[in-house]
Amino acid sequence: MERQRSFSFKSTSFFVFAFTISSSLIFLVSLFTWVLRSNPSIHQNTHFQFNKPVFNLSSFSSSSSAESLKLSILKDTHFLKPENESGSVKFSAFNQIQIQRLEDGGSEIEPEEAPAPSMKDIEVGANELTEGDEVTASLKVDEFKAYPSNGKFKEKVMNGCDLTKGKWVYDESYPLYTNGSCPLIDEGFNCDTNGRRDRSYKKWKWQPQDCDFPRFNAAKMLDLIKGKRLVFVGDSINRNQWESMLCMLMGAVKDPKKVYETHGRRITKEKGNYSFKFVDYKCTVEYYVSHFLVHESKARIGQKRRPTLRIDAIDHGSSRWKGADILVFNTAHWWSHYKTKAGINYYQEGNQVHPKLDVSTAFRKALMTWAAWVDRHINPGRTRVFFRNSAPSHFRGGLWNSGGHCAEATRPLNDTSGMEYPEKNGIVEEVILQMKTPVTLLNVTGLSAYRIDGHPSIYGKKPRTQSSNIQDCSHWCLPGVPDTWNEILFFHLQSKQKSKYH
Ligand SMILES: *[C@@H]1O[C@H](CO)[C@@H](O)[C@H](O)[C@H]1NC(C)=O
Ligand SMILES: *[C@@H]1O[C@H](CO)[C@@H](O)[C@H](O)[C@H]1NC(C)=O
Ligand SMILES: *[C@@H]1O[C@H](CO)[C@@H](O)[C@H](O)[C@H]1NC(C)=O
Ligand SMILES: *[C@@H]1O[C@H](CO)[C@@H](O)[C@H](O)[C@H]1NC(C)=O
Ligand SMILES: *[C@@H]1O[C@H](CO)[C@@H](O)[C@H](O)[C@H]1NC(C)=O
Ligand SMILES: *[C@@H]1O[C@H](CO)[C@@H](O)[C@H](O)[C@H]1NC(C)=O
Repeated sequence: MERQRSFSFKSTSFFVFAFTISSSLIFLVSLFTWVLRSNPSIHQNTHFQFNKPVFNLSSFSSSSSAESLKLSILKDTHFLKPENESGSVKFSAFNQIQIQRLEDGGSEIEPEEAPAPSMKDIEVGANELTEGDEVTASLKVDEFKAYPSNGKFKEKVMNGCDLTKGKWVYDESYPLYTNGSCPLIDEGFNCDTNGRRDRSYKKWKWQPQDCDFPRFNAAKMLDLIKGKRLVFVGDSINRNQWESMLCMLMGAVKDPKKVYETHGRRITKEKGNYSFKFVDYKCTVEYYVSHFLVHESKARIGQKRRPTLRIDAIDHGSSRWKGADILVFNTAHWWSHYKTKAGINYYQEGNQVHPKLDVSTAFRKALMTWAAWVDRHINPGRTRVFFRNSAPSHFRGGLWNSGGHCAEATRPLNDTSGMEYPEKNGIVEEVILQMKTPVTLLNVTGLSAYRIDGHPSIYGKKPRTQSSNIQDCSHWCLPGVPDTWNEILFFHLQSKQKSKYH
């Protein structure tokens, strides 16, 4: 009995021993192979970073640069998820990585932004309007500090070159469409039809400093989305971008009758769900309104049922976003609405309504809810995900509801160094970096900041229906600035394609 047991014990330990040895061997061999394979790519990265002027070693003074480097390489692979090994080397070599130490202190406050004004807001705003205000820039003139501080590192990964650094150059060959060639521009963005007479705002082309940036090619774009669903989800500024995309694509469509809304809906600001079918390309270009990306709900507070925001639950329209091939999200402006900003009895998680929650915390939680949804429901092998960050508004001499204006501006600003990088953008970047799914950031904030001349101002309505002096310095005329955002989207889709084939 005793011997038997001891024998069986020994044979077990022998198996354990043999197993350990062989798995260690396998592990070591795999590790060795992996190191050999990934070395060239690490080397490329290092090489690139140290040769880029944007990489400034002294900004790492308080931390080990080796650690930061490791971090950046990790994030790099996370962001790119290349299809296969050789592609990976090529693609990394073409990427530029910037790393920036966050400042401590966190004193910035985001400049007042208007929510995309709804009809109700405009009524309210009209009462608060003060006429004859002096033109004083509402943009704060401080240093352009990049981020709200939390003492962490930030990495920025760009495709090929840094598209955010550059300038607007006058180019007679723009715009890519007109109010006459595109029947789909809705009243709010149709500045020319509403009587805007200065022309140059349509003729600026974004020129990145370090690379050439291809002009939008509608035929190529239609090829890229052939048989697919291109879906925009977000607030009215995303509707702005979506309409721009429709108009730009129409440029390559021979028979405009072969483009139609699948439910026969006409674009208005009230309805929120549209799907345009491009028959010859078997693709759809869709827009779903979602101001916050999370669920707008109601809860009983005291005696009354009041509107709440379920920062722990995705927007109920999300079932429609599933199955898209390209998704372009945004949310920003509604988070500066009075209710969201105050955060009193408004933010809800489960059954609990927070008596008070600050808007940055709520924004972060909402984005994490969105991120979890994407990670759970989006197959990165099939769907490309983009997030467009906030588009700046340009109210001078007041806020959107207190006489702020921009109608006098007919040229881009020469200098935006006084504008602060919105805190929300920092939160978006942090959340995206934590995601499993690769998300490409459409970083339009800085380049749009120059374009004070691009807003509808007093041309967001037909002249006769202009009922108040409220100006729209949040949305954008079409053709106009959102066309550039779509050129950036096109650029990313195309270069992804390239990296697959080169
Ligand atoms: C690097 O940063 C330091 C301090 O922030 C600055 O003085 C220096 O000019 C920068 N160097 C380059 C090459 O940008
Ligand atoms: C890997 O990428 C190369 C070029 O980047 C391509 O030629 C090759 O077919 C790819 N292999 C696989 C398995 O996808
Ligand atoms: C387009 O705008 C111009 C003004 O720039 C206007 O004269 C014309 O009537 C508009 N066309 C359409 C179809 O609305
Ligand atoms: C859009 O579709 C969603 C999901 O079906 C629905 O909940 C929402 O009410 C629709 N919105 C509009 C404005 O039609
Ligand atoms: C911007 O620069 C241009 C060309 O240098 C100049 O004509 C224009 O007046 C400047 N605009 C402002 C607002 O300073
Ligand atoms: C976005 O662009 C701005 C400049 O316009 C830059 O300061 C910021 O760091 C960029 N963000 C990322 C994540 O690249």
